[in-house]
Amino acid sequence: MKTIKDKDIYCLIGNPVSKSLSPTIHNSYFELIGENSIYFTFEIKEEKLELILEAFKILNVKGFNVTIPHKITIINYLDEVSEDVKVLGAVNTVRNLNGKLIGFNTDGKGFLKSLEMEKIGIKDKTILVLGAGGAANAISVSLAMEGVKSIIIANRTISKAETLSDRISSYFPKIEVKYDSLKLENVNKKEVDMIVNCTSVGMYPNQTESPIDIEGFKENLIVYDIIYKPKKTRLLQLAEFKGYKTVNGISMLINQGLCSQEIWLGKKDLFFLENFEKIRRILKNYIE
Ligand code: ATR
Repeated sequence: MKTIKDKDIYCLIGNPVSKSLSPTIHNSYFELIGENSIYFTFEIKEEKLELILEAFKILNVKGFNVTIPHKITIINYLDEVSEDVKVLGAVNTVRNLNGKLIGFNTDGKGFLKSLEMEKIGIKDKTILVLGAGGAANAISVSLAMEGVKSIIIANRTISKAETLSDRISSYFPKIEVKYDSLKLENVNKKEVDMIVNCTSVGMYPNQTESPIDIEGFKENLIVYDIIYKPKKTRLLQLAEFKGYKTVNGISMLINQGLCSQEIWLGKKDLFFLENFEKIRRILKNYIE
């Protein structure tokens, strides 16, 4: 049995990090699976990034998550990155394997795992992605990797939607990719099978806002909002009122964390669903 002095150290680096739910998720998970490990948050300024990575190697920090503003720049300081990081250009999870820092991205995987848990199939479907930032990038790439038929990127700043759309087309030439503004003037709404909101519109404390007008879509539309606070955004409320299936961001958040754990511990957790439910219950106190 390890004692407190033998605890393995994990953490989140970013700026800001104070509101992150990652320590709750990971420390709860370590307790659930009986790992003698601890997870901290460290607020790290951009100019200190390289230095802190050296320190982590010396201190033998076993693994860490990365958030804004380091998700892209950290790639320059890692020893290796996974294949999806090469496409995404961003890292959110690092494993320290005997002094070698290896970068991964679990954003897309967490999203796909949440679809699997909700039994939502996306092969050959048309997906409307709202937003063109980091989350939209990870989710669009994971959708493309799963073989959707078509992706439409809609963003307030249309030039960013165009850049993301070009990026996906260049990596996945078989997938039809279009872009538009959030007014959706050039979108054939009846073709859309699922909407995924990756903008911050509707997030606490701006709960009364919706990124788009939900009128005119087909009957069996699925509306997924990656926001988890509030748990039912205005967009999801409007969608529910229309009878559409809705999904919020809690499942993606937990699944991202569990995917990081799998990377760090180097093993698949046999009790994934059971632990998922336990963490969901713990998070309820923090989110709702
Ligand atoms: P994340 O990493 O969470 O994706 P981000 O990269 O900052 O965060 O992206 C935020 C997204 O929300 C962007 O698509 C942004 O649109 P712009 O590219 O036009 O900035 C979108 N967003 C933020 N505030 C918005 C608002 N008030 N109306 C519409 N879109 C908004």
